[in-house]
Amino acid sequence: MKFALRPQLHGHDTFAAFAEAHAVSARDLIFTQRILQETFMQDSPAQVLFYDDFCDGEPTDIAVDRMLAAVRGLDFDRLIAIGGGSILDSAKVLALDSDADVAGLFAAGVQPGRKAGLILIPTTCGTGCEVTCVSVFDFPSIGSKIGKAFDAGFADHAVLIDEFLSKIPYHVFATSSADALVHAMEIYLAPKANAYTDMFCMTAIRSILQGYMRIVRHGREVIQQDAKSYLTASNMAGIALANILAGGVHAIAMHFGSAHHVPHGEATRLFLPSVFKIYYRKAPEGKIADIAQVITEVLDLPRDGTNPFDALDALLAQVVPTKRLRDYGMADTDADRYATKVIETQQRLLVNNYVALSNADIAGVYTELM
Ligand SMILES: [Fe+2]
Repeated sequence: MKFALRPQLHGHDTFAAFAEAHAVSARDLIFTQRILQETFMQDSPAQVLFYDDFCDGEPTDIAVDRMLAAVRGLDFDRLIAIGGGSILDSAKVLALDSDADVAGLFAAGVQPGRKAGLILIPTTCGTGCEVTCVSVFDFPSIGSKIGKAFDAGFADHAVLIDEFLSKIPYHVFATSSADALVHAMEIYLAPKANAYTDMFCMTAIRSILQGYMRIVRHGREVIQQDAKSYLTASNMAGIALANILAGGVHAIAMHFGSAHHVPHGEATRLFLPSVFKIYYRKAPEGKIADIAQVITEVLDLPRDGTNPFDALDALLAQVVPTKRLRDYGMADTDADRYATKVIETQQRLLVNNYVALSNADIAGVYTELM
């Protein structure tokens, strides 16, 4: 058993409170989106680099190579990344002490040190990547998203700032929080899970489901009141993710997201119910029974044999609506080919499955959602 919590965690109500506590100065480089800087950081003395100047959407290896070239011309002591998973994942690589491009950095065995301090601040409540050392980029030349863990990718400090959730669009909130739910549910079932990851995962699962039930009962506006609990839950799921990788839902989503340019949280949310229904059918008596119990309790399901994962599917359809796969551009004939590609490229995730997913299982998930 192994469990680590690497970055120090901090919480602040506002960016101003963070900037004062961490003495942000002109020796710092803030890496963020232009809209976030204009909305929350106008008075900051720090240097600024905008993600939007390099990339529109999730990062490709080509875009990150351009970011690396820009950062290598700047002089700073700390890199402070403020944004969603794309910005934080890019920042982990930008802080490395290396002259290599992304292809070189992703080569087997390459583990550079860090050239600057690193502070990661999430502005969505999902990826948890402020506490992980993994960077995931899209490699269009091979048609898939690939992740790599960099030892030096762990930040010195991860900071949760409630204010950044105050203007989050509902769709971004919904899909990012669903990604956190997927992390917690997948890692709870992973063969290498332990008492520590179980604790963080189960707290996150319960908290996010309770939040979703509040949305159903009181409307979408409650997400602002619940910002702190979502930030905490996604961070807890991230702490589990820093120790054990996610599994089959992520594997299936990685390929689909790359093929159809679907944001990560939306892609993982799409495949969560189908994969968990397979798990529940194949091995209902194992640890998945704990998750079934929590769903039954929080959703207040009748104890009449209702399948909790059908109920979760219905809850997600209300709170985090998505489209059918064909509406994203997938064709009926793609299912077998996609399943083969998942098995070829995502073994590092598939080994974390609760029970094995066959090629036919994965093709069946795609087909069911067409
Ligand atoms: Fe994820």
